[in-house]
Amino acid sequence: PVQVKKICCIGAGYVGGPTCAVIALKCPHITVTIVDLNQARVDAWNSKDFDLPIYEPGLVDVVKQARGRNLFFSTDVDKAIREADLIFVSVNTPTKKSGVGAGFAADLNYVESATRRIAAVATSDKIVVEKSTVPCRTAESMRTILEANSKPGTHFDILSNPEFLAEGTAITDLFSPDRVLIGSLQTESGQNASQALAAVYANWIPKERILTVGLWSSELSKLAANAMLAQRISSVNALSAICEATGANIDEVAHAVGFDSRIGPKFLRASVGFGGSCFQKDILNLVYLSESLHLPQVAAYWRQVVEMNEYQKSRFSKTVVDTLFNTITGKHIAVLGFAFKADTGDTRESASISLIRDFLSERAYVTIYDPKVEVAQIWQDLQEACPTTPLAQIQKYVNIVHSAAEACEQKEAIVIATEWKEFLDIDWQHVYDLMTKPAFVFDGRLLLDAEKLTKIGFTVKTIGRGGRV
Ligand code: NAD
Ligand code: UDX
Repeated sequence: PVQVKKICCIGAGYVGGPTCAVIALKCPHITVTIVDLNQARVDAWNSKDFDLPIYEPGLVDVVKQARGRNLFFSTDVDKAIREADLIFVSVNTPTKKSGVGAGFAADLNYVESATRRIAAVATSDKIVVEKSTVPCRTAESMRTILEANSKPGTHFDILSNPEFLAEGTAITDLFSPDRVLIGSLQTESGQNASQALAAVYANWIPKERILTVGLWSSELSKLAANAMLAQRISSVNALSAICEATGANIDEVAHAVGFDSRIGPKFLRASVGFGGSCFQKDILNLVYLSESLHLPQVAAYWRQVVEMNEYQKSRFSKTVVDTLFNTITGKHIAVLGFAFKADTGDTRESASISLIRDFLSERAYVTIYDPKVEVAQIWQDLQEACPTTPLAQIQKYVNIVHSAAEACEQKEAIVIATEWKEFLDIDWQHVYDLMTKPAFVFDGRLLLDAEKLTKIGFTVKTIGRGGRV
């Protein structure tokens, strides 16, 4: 197999950035260039004071060690492609908004343009690696495009190497992944390419964790892993509704169920609903794939995971309205957390957005605080969530503040939407003293000590807990 000396990564986003920064850190003998068309993003990666475009614990340290040594960020896509032996395609693959498969299928436009760029400029053999999450058999389309447009004598091997990192823990996930998955054609050339990429990872990952499989299995495994993870959350959230109706406690149920070694304790935390850029998109992708394959029952099965999540989000909004005496019009609500989970500034598909949209449709006043999300991002998300309402109108009802204490001042209700640890340090007695009574706290993340808050005098509604605390 060839020895990889130069890597190019197309796409400097949440995946391309951290993934290839870690490769550079762990493989000082390999030059890694991460390219993107977005100049502002590349500038941020290159910023002197390491004001990186994404927040991820530990990321700044990695970039500090490798940038300028063997890690480079650039907008010169062509040069990086030309020089590389191996190219990661790590561009976005969002759900299509219009056309065939709108609302379900993945938009492969960015993958295709990146692939066409590789074909247009490559003058030597390349290993092209699908890092983006794509529908099954996308590698075949990439191969066709590459072969139809390449210079004579250039040879391309295509690998699938899906990324399993979770945001908020990307760096630790990349340092010691549960597994690295590499899919290739089972030809000699395909297997050699697979070995070349495996050798890159073997610089820091134990060999037994590097799994090599067929291309289509690799592509499908990524969709399958996300679908099954999301399914666990929808299952536990479905049970949380039963808990609330019966007086059972979802913590206790999840703990008891998770003790079964076949089920395991992780990823069973009930919540206001899963968010993030992956779960919903990848399940819808699987639904679309199933439908295209004339498997409507399979499609319906997976679609239900997303439907349960939508139900969980709207159920939580309804609990807030019902509890506040069936009206929140004109009431003041603090929403703590806007990111889709703690330890990230990412808001894509955040449950918080749906909640706030629901509160605004009742004409409540909402005060938002999140430790990491940029203010401009919040306005953009709310405008997208309420497309027919002018931003000025949204801004009459929404206030964005810079601390949890400020957000909680003189509100009728406080809603925990993201499980940021710092919300544990809120001075609840002080918050209570300033609130209109009865004072309500809605914990959508099983974060707070409900018993303590009840003692102070709050009425506490926790996801997945019935009347008794
Ligand atoms: P992102 O939007 O943060 O980053 C993608 C980047 O690609 C953008 O900066 C965009 O400007 C750039 N880009 C698009 N087309 C380009 C082109 N032709 N040339 C150069 N640059 C181009 O997306 P992301 O979150 O990093 O996700 C990337 C892929 O990884 C997606 O397929 C996603 O499903 C998958 N994935 C994401 C995660 C996650 O946690 N975010 C985890 C695993 C897999
Ligand atoms: C997910 C997958 O975990 C990762 O392997 C894949 O590469 C990308 O998609 P991510 O979306 O970044 O990662 O975060 P994850 O930790 O999976 O959380 C997704 C959502 O589920 C968040 O909104 C989170 O709060 C929620 N969640 C997670 C729960 O509600 N309960 C849980 O028990 C776990």
